[in-house]
Amino acid sequence: MSFKTLVAILCLVPVALAQQPAWAQCGGQGWTGGTTCVAGYSCVAQNSYYSQCLPTGTGTGSGTVTSTSGGSSPSATSTTPLNTAAKAAGKKYFGSATDNPELSDSAYVKILSDSTMFGQITPGNSMKWDATEPSRGTFTFTQGDQIANLTKANGQLLRGHNCVWHNQLPSWVTSGNFNAATLSSIITTHCGTVVGHYKGQIYSWDVVNEPFNDDGTFRQDVFYNTLGQDYISIALNAARAADPNAKLYINDYNIEGTGAKSTAMVNLVKSLKAANVPIDGIGVQAHLIVGQVPSTLEANLRQFTALGVEVAITELDIRMTLPATDALLAQQKKDYQTVIAACRAVSGCIGVTIWDYTDKYSWVPSTFSGQGAALPWDANLNKKPAYDGIVAGFAS
Ligand SMILES: *[C@@H]1O[C@H](CO)[C@@H](O)[C@H](O)[C@H]1NC(C)=O
Repeated sequence: MSFKTLVAILCLVPVALAQQPAWAQCGGQGWTGGTTCVAGYSCVAQNSYYSQCLPTGTGTGSGTVTSTSGGSSPSATSTTPLNTAAKAAGKKYFGSATDNPELSDSAYVKILSDSTMFGQITPGNSMKWDATEPSRGTFTFTQGDQIANLTKANGQLLRGHNCVWHNQLPSWVTSGNFNAATLSSIITTHCGTVVGHYKGQIYSWDVVNEPFNDDGTFRQDVFYNTLGQDYISIALNAARAADPNAKLYINDYNIEGTGAKSTAMVNLVKSLKAANVPIDGIGVQAHLIVGQVPSTLEANLRQFTALGVEVAITELDIRMTLPATDALLAQQKKDYQTVIAACRAVSGCIGVTIWDYTDKYSWVPSTFSGQGAALPWDANLNKKPAYDGIVAGFAS
């Protein structure tokens, strides 16, 4: 073989290695990996954040309807709308998160806007710190307002998400080297201004998001490292002053079952109440895995409501390792039913929000490699068996 041929082959090797396996991610905003798929699979855009290697012929490109589980996947049979089912069970709402880029998808918005289906909306990103105060003292509400206006037009409740979180923070906050007094005033200004802007429009706010590590210790972030746990009461007091009628929540993940992290939440809420700091609710995110719903979920919701606060399931999705098989979809249906039935059984569990409603716009595939199909509607906006699980959970 000539040297030239060898060079040509060597040049091809990285391309061959970069081919993505079946069902893997192959593109999307920020994606730096391979963008071509193995033989028989094509790279299909699911949304601006995620493209996936699908069997060739099942999807034809960005913005088109694609299937992630084959043409013969089982679908839901119930015709009961989900918010109607939630209200019949005595709950305030069944809701969904959404995000601004999706609001140009009219088929998507049509379902989202049906208040018998979704009685509540949470903006996935547009009320977070990086979106609302990208530089100190400069507030932008256009994107948040777009979602707030949509809920108003639809007659839906709005959950605010969120004031203080370690993530999606602009660098002026994380790298400002502020002393305690200055950071305290920055938190007060941020929460006061954002909550104040939406005063009268919000059912509840996730004022503090994800304050704990999984072992129940406080997360070390710029707020905790500068102010200790006082940052939590600073944020809650600012939020209460800005909108006295909004329910103020602390929201976290991996607090679905009992355990160290849930105990830490119990102790925090007790200490806040003892100090007369306003706290009205605990948000249980519930980003779960098929077949792994904690058996202590209902007992844990009860230990939270026993503190004299309400509880909401705030970010429910139940992901699986792809591809979605009939067996996994059947287990997922059971798992959705289990979660909803636990909320139904606990009177202080006031509502359930899924973290968007369709696999087309789920955050899961771009965050958990090889996993997805976590929501009750598939990427074609068809209802999956999980939908029937939700209806059954509210009826049980
Ligand atoms: C939201 O509604 C208000 C009041 O009608 C309006 O002034 C504002 O421009 C709207 N904002 C967006 C982003 O649609």
